[in-house]
Amino acid sequence: MVMLATADGKITRGNNPNIHTWSSKEDQKYFFSLIKKNNLIVMGRASYDASKPVIKIEKSKLRIVLTHSPKKHLNQTIKGQLEFTDESPEKLVKRLSLLGYKKMLLVGGGTINGLFLIQNLVDELYLTVEPKIFGSGKNMVEGQLLNTPLHLISIKKLNKIGTLLLKYKVNK
Ligand SMILES: NC(=O)c1ccc[n+]([C@@H]2O[C@H](COP(=O)([O-])OP(=O)(O)OC[C@H]3O[C@@H](n4cnc5c(N)ncnc54)[C@H](OP(=O)(O)O)[C@@H]3O)[C@@H](O)[C@H]2O)c1
Repeated sequence: MVMLATADGKITRGNNPNIHTWSSKEDQKYFFSLIKKNNLIVMGRASYDASKPVIKIEKSKLRIVLTHSPKKHLNQTIKGQLEFTDESPEKLVKRLSLLGYKKMLLVGGGTINGLFLIQNLVDELYLTVEPKIFGSGKNMVEGQLLNTPLHLISIKKLNKIGTLLLKYKVNK
């Protein structure tokens, strides 16, 4: 799971879905390097809508979007590159591992993060913290009561203002 948040844990500023207006260029660079390295990327439909303008569909990468209405998105589907599903995270992970995928990059948003966390399907959290406070916005996890224990693996200061990249392992 990879997320960008403020010091007060917000992943959006209020209801504005555009995170590129406040993310540091160092985090953007890091995030796109992760996208480049991973061939399986999973996200919620709202996050897909928010990031559609910057998503480059590629033959070598499968992007999966979780939605309650996959049929509504049939016209956007490109088999093996952009797929829409209403499978539970557990079923999805099983199916994809049977297809040979070893790693999944879960890129949010908060609702979908919650669904994977409650089913104990997250192994690592890469969290960038921008030194900002928004007060109002979406949370990194929405809709679940959790008690997920994390273990800090590494911490890196990405720039002078103190954007931090925290890598955690989920203790299972
Ligand atoms: N800062 C960051 O790192 C970061 C990362 C990602 C996203 N974001 C921001 O977060 C916001 C989106 O977060 P969000 O929590 O509102 O939405 P989300 O998690 O991206 O997606 C929610 C959508 O997922 C689908 N869904 C929910 N439960 C489902 C289930 N059980 N089975 C199948 N599909 C299900 C529904 O789609 P349908 O309505 O189509 O049924 C729901 O509307 C955006 O503004 C985005 O910009 C920030």
